[in-house]
Amino acid sequence: MKLLLAIVFFISYGCAVKDYLFKTCAQSGFCHRNRHYAKEVANSANFTSPYSVNSIESNDGVITGVIVKDLPQLDVNIELPFEITIVEDSFRFRLSEKRDPIPGHVNSDRYNETEKWAFKDQLAVDRNVQLSKSHHQADVKYGNHEVIITFHPITFVFKYNGKEQLRINEQQFLNIEHRRSEEDNELHLLPQESSFDMFHDSFDDSKSDSLPLGPESVAVDFSLVGFSNLYGIPEHADSLLLKDTSTKEPYRLYNVDIFEYETDSRLPMYGSIPFLTATKPDASVGIFWVNSADSYIDIKKDTDSSTVHWISENGLLDFVVIIEDSPNKVTQQYGKITGFTQLPPLFSLGYHQCRWNYNDQKDVLDVHAKFDEYEIPYDTIWLDIEYTDNKKYFTWDKETFPDPEKMLNVLDRTGRNLVAIIDPHIKTGYDVSNEILKKNIAMKNSANEPYFGHCWPGESIWIDSLNPDCQNFWNKKHKQFMTPAHNIYLWNDMNEPSVFNGPETSAPKDNLFHGQWELRSIHNLYGLSYHERTYNALLDRLPSQRPFILTRSYFAGSQRTAAMWTGDNMSKWEYLKISIPMVLTSNVVGMPFAGADVGGFFGNPTNELLTRWYQTGIWYPFFRAHAHIDSRRREPWLAGEPYTGYIRDAIKLRYALLPVFYTSFYESSINGTPVLKPLFYENPQNLENYNIDDEFFVGNSGILVKPITSEGEKEVQFALPDDEVYYDFTNGVLGKVYKKGSKQEVGLDDIPILLKGGSIIPLKTRYRRSSKLMKLDPYSLIIALDKQGKATGKLYADDGETFTKGVEVNFSVDKNTIRATVTGEYLPIPIEKITIVSGHDLVTIANSHVNINSNWELPFEFTSTHIDHDEL
Ligand code: NOJ
Repeated sequence: MKLLLAIVFFISYGCAVKDYLFKTCAQSGFCHRNRHYAKEVANSANFTSPYSVNSIESNDGVITGVIVKDLPQLDVNIELPFEITIVEDSFRFRLSEKRDPIPGHVNSDRYNETEKWAFKDQLAVDRNVQLSKSHHQADVKYGNHEVIITFHPITFVFKYNGKEQLRINEQQFLNIEHRRSEEDNELHLLPQESSFDMFHDSFDDSKSDSLPLGPESVAVDFSLVGFSNLYGIPEHADSLLLKDTSTKEPYRLYNVDIFEYETDSRLPMYGSIPFLTATKPDASVGIFWVNSADSYIDIKKDTDSSTVHWISENGLLDFVVIIEDSPNKVTQQYGKITGFTQLPPLFSLGYHQCRWNYNDQKDVLDVHAKFDEYEIPYDTIWLDIEYTDNKKYFTWDKETFPDPEKMLNVLDRTGRNLVAIIDPHIKTGYDVSNEILKKNIAMKNSANEPYFGHCWPGESIWIDSLNPDCQNFWNKKHKQFMTPAHNIYLWNDMNEPSVFNGPETSAPKDNLFHGQWELRSIHNLYGLSYHERTYNALLDRLPSQRPFILTRSYFAGSQRTAAMWTGDNMSKWEYLKISIPMVLTSNVVGMPFAGADVGGFFGNPTNELLTRWYQTGIWYPFFRAHAHIDSRRREPWLAGEPYTGYIRDAIKLRYALLPVFYTSFYESSINGTPVLKPLFYENPQNLENYNIDDEFFVGNSGILVKPITSEGEKEVQFALPDDEVYYDFTNGVLGKVYKKGSKQEVGLDDIPILLKGGSIIPLKTRYRRSSKLMKLDPYSLIIALDKQGKATGKLYADDGETFTKGVEVNFSVDKNTIRATVTGEYLPIPIEKITIVSGHDLVTIANSHVNINSNWELPFEFTSTHIDHDEL
């Protein structure tokens, strides 16, 4: 039976998305009921909301009060206590429900620990807030912000710098499904409500779960005043700009193993970040919905405003509203709450070579050697699930990998690393699962017994990574498995969690976790809790080494400890194209370390597609080629010439640009700046930038890229985000000024890039086998002056491995002098060559005798003419 299940799944794993496996809104009780409610409320001429603010008061900067849900005709009066705090200059609202315990049920509270996982730590409350109130409304003031709260019907109107930006509950979609039991004779329903699937899940009879706590959903509407450009709420295989869902399925956030996902889709995927942003030239808004349960988001766009209806299955009504001047500031404030990305170890920004699977030790070392033979740099080779002894994690297959330590040593000689996969499903019947059961740290079923399900190893149990007691065990297992190598890191996959025989390919929602919380409440943060345990285990093993972990499932806060990739895409042009908005969206919501499988996971790319994918992939912050076990081998040299040469050039360009990527990550790690940055972040004043998702900047470097993502494409036309001068920088070679609106010819060997006037970028251009071997290589600088003859740029450099802070160099040019201002310390690595361009003037300074760890000034004069400049 087990074998049969595994075979059935394996065969089906190669077919197109089975959307019937996933609930539509109409098939999901709580979403169905809330969409119905919204429709009825909108259509009722004289609807009176049952909710009103009953009390509100301020005590030392914390505002508390009670909202009452009053249904006198049904004899229902529910108290919903709330709290308003100002955290990181933003407005947080947190509402719960006063409930009596349910007899026989250990934990019947609304889940209130999402913040524990999502926030970077306990947030400091800003006491500088004023509350004034009258009979029917209250006024909350903090900084340049004001929120007017009307008591009945309840509305929150947000003003920033005196202008209205956001209205909450203007549509009266606020709905807190209060505690009731099926046995009650009356369900206490308003005429606007429906009782669809309140106590029984009817989606798939064979896999449905119980609903012991009945209906518990929370929902409310947000009207964004003057905003029609909305972004965020990944993960979806969709455009950067969010779409109107009035006639579509809502965007769903529910972490699932969605194989062969389709593009242009609002279906849920592997990760969820419940953070939505909206931008217009004079203000940007962020709504962070602090809830880890299954959620649906409806978006309605009018000419210049939008309404968002956010619906979650249970938990608190908890959200943070961020209103700032620019999108960058909104991403930054969100990062102050959930944490910024960890500065990744330098090697992890190099090229990663993966496939399912490298079969044995010899295979790994052969592939490794071929990179050097073909002079293609790479940093990391990966092992998928087959390296284990029968999918038992923390073991090696002794026949195929008889001496992993020797293999790791060979890799280490040229600075190469290994990443091995460890998933959260643990095969039953060996010491690791036996110990998990003994220690009582497995996920439980609704009867509070260990849950057994199916995944790669056949029958499996799942580690309850919410349980703090699992950390020591996890540390110990990693120590045993990984010691003594220093060049081994980890991949956490299938952590949605993926359960082959479970509802919607995950575990039943009534499964239980530490604290007796249902999976229903914590579902979207399970993946985060899992990769955080792994992160801690790696730190415990080597405290001074920055860990690297790739995770498939993630939540708000995952950026602190892991990189993500977009899962199982296909070797088709449309997946190459969609990878750009998907990675951009991840950057908008503070998770910059993102990438997509280069080449496509399922299928076999043509050589043209593979080449274009590498030329695009070098810009993903996380740059890894990966392929399904049934896909043909496609390491770069197999394509043959001219493709191999083009792929080599692309990878070498990534390595030359490593200082730019590392510096962008450094900036992101201190202020949240996207590493792959949409054009509207560079210039929010130009409305034409708002819908561009096939072009992007690399951080604040001024490098603007438009990858070729269509078959047979022969020319490229850039959209310029502003009026600055832009230089052609195709393939990393400085060319003439790019004339706005012009079309450039592109060959298959071309990677279209522009460099913005006013930028200074640091490069390392010598070919080395890995990033580690580039450590002492000199830098070169490219300086493109702006229309005023000025430029600025940044370099961050450190040892790339430990937590020791390095050196930050701020370069600037003004009045024909280059200046470097240095803070921090690092090695005195020389800058061997500086090229300065301004319109048609050019100067190259070789042997400048300056380095990166001291302040300096260097005057220059233009000495020659840069290539022809008919456009100037
Ligand atoms: C699913 C992952 O998405 C894929 O990348 C991996 O190769 C397979 N699991 C096997 O581990």
